[in-house]
Parts: sequence; C-alpha cells; structure tokens
Amino acid sequence: MIEIINDTLFHLYNEKISYVMSILPNQQLGHVYFGPSLGKLASFDQSYLVKKENKSAGTVKFFETDNLFTLADRFQELPVYGTSDFREGAVSIFEEATPLYVDFKFIQAHCFQGKERDLAQPASFAKTDESQSIVFELADTERNLKMHITYTIFNGLGTITRKQKIINLDAKPRKLERLLSGVLELRNQDFELLHLSGAWLKERHIKSTPLTQGTISVGSLKGASSHQHNPFVALKEKCATNDVGRVYGANLIYSGNFLAQVEMDEWDNVRLMLGIHPEQFTWTLDQGAYFEAPECLFTFTENGLNGLSQESARFVEKHVISPYWQKRDRPIVFNNWEATYFDFDEEKLLALAKESHSLGMECFVLDDGWFGKRNDDRSSLGDWIADPLKFPQGIGRFAEKIHDIGMQLGIWFEPEMVSPDSQLYQAHPEWVVKHHYERISVGRGQYVLDFANPAVVDGIFHAMKKIIAETKLDYIKWDMNRNITEAYSPYLAEQGIAQTEFYHRYILGVYALYQKILAEFPTLLIEGCAGGGGRYDLGILFYSPQIWPSDDSDAVERLSIQTGTLLGYPLSSFSNHVSATPNHQVGRITSLTFRQNVAMFGPLGYELDLFNLTSEEKQAIQTQIAFYKQHRQLLTFGIFYQVQPIGQGNEVAWAVYDPQQEKALIGFFRVLAQANPTAEAFLPLRFIDPTQVYQANDEKVSGQILKQIGLRKPYQFNGVNPGTAQVTGDFQSYVYHLQLAEKKEQTDDE
Ligand code: DGJ
Repeated sequence: MIEIINDTLFHLYNEKISYVMSILPNQQLGHVYFGPSLGKLASFDQSYLVKKENKSAGTVKFFETDNLFTLADRFQELPVYGTSDFREGAVSIFEEATPLYVDFKFIQAHCFQGKERDLAQPASFAKTDESQSIVFELADTERNLKMHITYTIFNGLGTITRKQKIINLDAKPRKLERLLSGVLELRNQDFELLHLSGAWLKERHIKSTPLTQGTISVGSLKGASSHQHNPFVALKEKCATNDVGRVYGANLIYSGNFLAQVEMDEWDNVRLMLGIHPEQFTWTLDQGAYFEAPECLFTFTENGLNGLSQESARFVEKHVISPYWQKRDRPIVFNNWEATYFDFDEEKLLALAKESHSLGMECFVLDDGWFGKRNDDRSSLGDWIADPLKFPQGIGRFAEKIHDIGMQLGIWFEPEMVSPDSQLYQAHPEWVVKHHYERISVGRGQYVLDFANPAVVDGIFHAMKKIIAETKLDYIKWDMNRNITEAYSPYLAEQGIAQTEFYHRYILGVYALYQKILAEFPTLLIEGCAGGGGRYDLGILFYSPQIWPSDDSDAVERLSIQTGTLLGYPLSSFSNHVSATPNHQVGRITSLTFRQNVAMFGPLGYELDLFNLTSEEKQAIQTQIAFYKQHRQLLTFGIFYQVQPIGQGNEVAWAVYDPQQEKALIGFFRVLAQANPTAEAFLPLRFIDPTQVYQANDEKVSGQILKQIGLRKPYQFNGVNPGTAQVTGDFQSYVYHLQLAEKKEQTDDE
C-alpha cells in the first residue's frame, strides 16, 4: 500500500515492512525510515517523524536563507557529493570538466499498480494486484535535468525495489560519472556487513565485517559480477541469529561491474549504496537523452538469517525468475563434461545418454567440444557448427537420437567468446574487444566478442538460432570463461562513443542476446554459467532460471557455496551435480550417498562417467533419483531453512518444508568425524507446526518436541557402538523425512 500525507510524507507499507520518505526543507527527497511495518500512519505521525533539529557544530550549512539546515546528517534518497554533505554521493554529473552538484527538487509523484515484465532489461515484475509503485519526478531546473525514481512494494514481501532514470533536457551534453542504483540510510544498530566472497572453485562464502567509522566496499571490475564478490550484501545486527534479529539485505538486478559500499559517519549514520561501479564508467547524455540505472532491491526482516534467506527467495522466485519456470519441474540433467571432457564422439555420447536415461535422468547436456574442431580449450569458439568428425550425421540427427531415447537435449555455448583460430575471427577481426597495444592480456586462449556492437550480437544470435532450431533444443548451458581486459570496443570508437560506456554497453548486449533467443524460443531452459559462479546475479536469473554455481562439484565445498548462495538466492536458482570420486577439483574421496544427499537440495544433475560405476552404485543412483522425483517440488521450490548456526564449519543442516508445514526433508552433514562426541544432540526445527504430530523417518514425534528440542542428530560411530551408529567416519550425511502423521484441527483451548 502507498500512503501520501500532505504531499510531503510518502509511506510504502504492507504487513511486514514500511518505507517512509519525506520532502526535505530544501525540497529534495529525504529518507525517514525502513524497517518493520508501522501500519497506516495518521496525520500527527507526520509531524513526529519529520526531523526538526539541525546539526550545528562543525558542519557546512546548505542555505544562505536557513543557516541551520545542512545535508551532512540528513537521511537522503539521492545524496550528492560536494554539497553540504561530504560523504560519497549516489549521483555525479559533469558538463565537460565542470561538476554540476545537481540539486534535484521534488516536483510531483504518482502511483501505479503492477509492473510489466520486459525482456529488454532485467528488472522485477508483478501482476496488477501484486505490487504498488510510486514514481517521484524530481527536477533540477537550473541545470535542466530531470530524475525519475520509482519505488515498488510487493504484497506480503519484505522487499522494496528502486529504479532511476535521469534525463538531460539541456542543449549542452552532460556526462554522467556515477549513478548508483540504491541508497539506504540507517542508524547503526551494531551492524556487520555480510557479503558473499570467494574465488573460482570457492564462490560465495559468507564473510562478515563489523562496521566502524569509515567506508567498506566490495565490488567487481571484471566486466561481470564475478567469482570474487557478489552484488548481494546485507547489514545484520551483530546479535542476530538464524531465527531472530534485524537484517537488511540489498541486491542489484545487474550482471556487470558493480560497487556495494557502506559508509559510517561521525554520528554512526550508515549509508549503504550499490550500483554500477563508477570506475571507468561514464555515460554521455545529449539533449533529450536518458540513462536508466539497473534496479536494486532492499529487503528487511526481523527473523535473522533464515528470515533474510526466505524473504530473498520469495521475492526472486516470484518477481525475478521467468513466470514460465516458476514452480516448473527442472529436468534431472546428465552432463558429459566431467565424464568425457573433450574426448568424445557420437557413439560414446549416445551410450552415456542411454545409460543415464535408464537410471532415471531426463536431460542430456552436451558440454564443450561439440563444434568447430574443438578438441581442447584453445580452439573454435565462435564457429557454432557441429564437428563432422564427432557428429558424422549432423547435430540434428544426434538430437533426434537423444529425443528418441526419451531425453531432452541441452547444448553448451560460450556465445560471448571467440578463438583466434576460428573462422569467425578470421572473417571479423574487428568484432573482438581488443586494444591496439602490442601487449594485451589473454585468458583461456580466447578473445571476448564486442557485445557493445549490435551486429556482433545479431551474428551470434543467428548462429545459435540455427542450432537451436535444428536440434529442437530444450536447454542451453551459457558459459562465459574469461574476463575483459584492456577493454576497448572498435565499434564504439567508430561511432564516436566514449570507451567508458563499454562495460555497461557490453552487458546490455548480453541481455539483448538473451532477449532475442527467448523471444524466439520462450520455453528454452537456459542455465547461466561463467566458469561456474563468475556471474551469479539477478540480472542473469531474470533470463536463466538456474545457474551453474561453481566449477567445484566437491560436495564438501558445495556445503559452503550453497549455504552462502542461499542467503540471497532461492534453492531453485542453482544446479548441483553428483560427480566422480576422487573429486576432480579437490581430489577428495567421499561416498556416493554423501554426494547425492548434498546435491539433491536444488535442481539435480549427474556429471561423471557412468561406465565407471559398480552395479550397486547404479542401483543407488536409481533409488535416489526415484526419491528425488517424488520430492522434486519440495527440494526445488520448498521453503529453505538453515538448522545449524551458520558458519559453524564442521556441521551443516539444511531443511526444506512446504508452506502448510505438512512435510519436510532435512539433510544433516558432518564434514569430519568427531572423537568421542556427545551421545545426545539435537537439531531444533523452529519452523515446524507445534500443534501437529509428525512421522520423522520411522518415529512419531510431536511438533512441539521437534520445535523445542529437535530431531535427534544421528548417532556417530564412537568405537564402542557399532550396533547403533548411524553415521561413521568423515563426510557423514543423514536425511530425515518428515510428514504429518495425522492432521490435528486446532481447538479453542490450544
Ligand atoms: C566451465 C564450466 O563451468 C564447466 O562446467 C564446463 O562447461 C567448462 N567451462 C567447459 O569449457
């Protein structure tokens, strides 16, 4: 709901949150509050909420006419550096070399319902009755600039989104040097900044940094959201636990260079900002031109880290992921990468396909190496034509054979890249991102295509379209294996467009290709990938409902990767493959049971040589797949809950349950065996309905006991209990299956 009081106080609220803004005495847009719902406000609330006191000592005042007003300690929606506020600002505009110190004043606001989904740019969407938005029209009449800021609140969710558009009305061109998408001003509540950081093979581990006066930032300058940092960040009260405590989450619906920054000033005011990284970014606005910053979102919960995870998942699943894929079963994939790498032909693939199908798998994904003459990673990218030596009857015929087996077909592409030996590069050397310096950096022996050039995007689209149509393709794995260096677009040079627009234009080109493909093939399942999790963000999830989260398929490492990822993204957004042992990335030896139990949380796949398995292992895979199919909806779209305190390391317990709390699956994982552990330890299930009775594996237990005491952790082998031990040795896993034993209706005295 949106309330506007006296045209000066603006209140977006639902039963969970309130977001309040006001018009400051200088007519700019001020921030008042974001947190638990305040309910409908009364007119006297307005006079109470709006700040009257001014900071005096040691600050520069804003107005000659009001010598007590300053922006230095004001909560603002669009702060500008260099005014009476000396903190970093969200917007910075120049006229040639002169800073404009823009002064956007409130003109008017209007509201609307719903939010259309438009494939041209990733952004949240909602049906007419699911969201309400308010658009603020702000203007700097002296400098002839306009700014529109749109805020949206969604029914029943703890998330607010914000989108900005700046328009230059002046005859003189203006240069935007920064336009951060989101600003959130808060008083410090003993906050820690949570962020998801790592590297290739160890993405999105949770890191936490206490706030102190000064600035902390994370970001990416790699041309993609990166393996190293993720645009999802959160401010958490230090004392917040899994279940209780205030947490503010923030994210960006964007896949390129980003900055997420928290500045705490001398009065412990906290300014959280995020958006396109200002490094090597400018955008020229000629008269009448506009620029739209990516949409950002802010989430609030009082229910600790599980609250944050659940709120984030609900929002992303309903308002970012394509409606076609919402709650739709994802196929169980067999991927040939770790089974064959580049060493395959059609015969080998068909044998794997038949075997995987007989075990219950549903989609055969043909990974890297099917095209050109690509027998290693140094060749043929860009030549999206099947290798006739590997597919003598053509890729269309191969696809028919896969479909005849009864499987869907997926094919790997790396659309944004080109190999120097490819026919594409020979024909179009001007299509690559390449500075004309003699010495330039290379990555994986490939060049990045200049996706800022619409002709390049179009050329790749036509090559892909041919393969998709010929194979009646069901699924694409869209990889991206190197970052951009010495960024330089020959196309932008030719057009007279500044190279500092390149990084953003590149990402817009990536989105344009997604748009073209999905407009033509709307039911194609595209799995995002960038050397694993190098571009795991809401921009990609808008088009690709799932992402390959890491090239690390080791189940122990995945415990950390998935735990981190789940703070900001839903279960359905990452795929997990059961791979061989010893694991190819870390050499670890783990049981098939452990690997399968970890991988079943989310869309499931297998990626190992099936002909190296014993018949017992094949039987175990068949059984597991049958179990997964039975519980697929719960394991992909259920409500996720972290049972153990996050970050404990040696033990992880994940639960998924249905909204009616009638069934749940809980996976308990202990990485290293403990010497002489306590015999009795429990996993309290705080989410369970205490009024009901559950069947927990083969025992009947009341919801009250499960909630307050918990599931008994599996007995570990301790040297003297071989008869009763349920788990033994390192890499233990144990699955609990909970189901309502009998539905108890609530009585009045309960
Ligand atoms: C990196 C991906 O993450 C892998 O899964 C695989 O597809 C390789 N690229 C292929 O080159």
